[in-house]
Amino acid sequence: MNLPDPLDGGRIGTASEWMNIRRPELLELFRRTMFGTLPPRPDSLVFEELERSRNALNHRAERRQLRIHCSMRSGGTHSFDLLLYLPGNADGPVPVFLGLNGLGNQACTREKEILVTPWKINLGGLYPTHVADESARGIREDFWCVKRILERGWGFATLHSSSIFPDWPGGISESVLRLFRLRAPRPGAISAWAWGLSRALDCLESIPEVNAGRVGLVGHSRLGKTALWAGANDPRFAFVISNNSGCCGASLARHKQGEDLESILTYFSFWFTEKLHDYRNREESLPVDQHELIALMAPRPVYITSATKDLHADPEGEFLAALHAVPAYRLFGCRDFPPETMPPPDAPYGTDVAYHIRTGPHDMTPLDWEFFLDFADRI
Ligand code: GCU
Repeated sequence: MNLPDPLDGGRIGTASEWMNIRRPELLELFRRTMFGTLPPRPDSLVFEELERSRNALNHRAERRQLRIHCSMRSGGTHSFDLLLYLPGNADGPVPVFLGLNGLGNQACTREKEILVTPWKINLGGLYPTHVADESARGIREDFWCVKRILERGWGFATLHSSSIFPDWPGGISESVLRLFRLRAPRPGAISAWAWGLSRALDCLESIPEVNAGRVGLVGHSRLGKTALWAGANDPRFAFVISNNSGCCGASLARHKQGEDLESILTYFSFWFTEKLHDYRNREESLPVDQHELIALMAPRPVYITSATKDLHADPEGEFLAALHAVPAYRLFGCRDFPPETMPPPDAPYGTDVAYHIRTGPHDMTPLDWEFFLDFADRI
């Protein structure tokens, strides 16, 4: 496998060359070939508190629901809801995990007060229709482990991906992208979702009980691809955890296992910018590969994960991408990396670049969260 060199054959040798020359070049290449350019901040952003309770989750937490209103001078508007939990016993601003959810805010805990984010998503027969309605309440409790996150002294914030860009091929007309005049490289859904994460951070920055300098991203699968892209675009995110993100996320296109560009573009072309079609079955001619997307987090800690049964996401390709991002981190004097060969299951390695492969299928589980919390506490 012949991978492009993040340091461009020795042309880049210092942290400042990385930040000022190479990082902007790579970011631009990912914009042009894969994800498109994120829209700017809207002309106006207003954060409206819809609900607050100090007695959430059996009196152990504070819950807030905020509506983020975006508006443009031209008259366009778009709003979406952020759900925030803070530990009840905090004695200062708390660090927060921020993640996009795929089934509605109401899926993340069982609390009946959580407002339903009412999107209906039909991916045209490939997957069953997702209905982000009342029936989804609490169904992702074990996936997000909110109680455990709070117990460990962290806050948790989430928003529904489809409230930014409904996750189906026609979703653009109801997406936030309709507020902006889009020029090439046009953003796909992943750029729109990444934009939503940055607006969520704008909102978190306005909350004194949040330590906005320690807001890290966590995302699974398509939203793990998004977490990497959001972290690449917005250096305010303190760390990024990309769980089982696979093709166009953490796994190397040139490794050629699991999902490839031909297959992802057949079903999910609307996630990407049009130019990516030029590389269908021509992965070797991409000007970048995914280790360079991971390297765009440097020197901020990044955590890549796989699962033993998630062959669609290509665990080995994910591991190798993490490993090949290391040269960018070394420029900053970082030293805590995974070993050079694939580690055994259920054993996390590294802090600057971290990796684990969990036993089991494509998912995010309480065991993953124990590892994420240990990682985040070390930062
Ligand atoms: C599909 C898709 C993947 C994606 C996954 C998910 O399987 O092929 O690229 O990561 O959905 O988001 O669950």
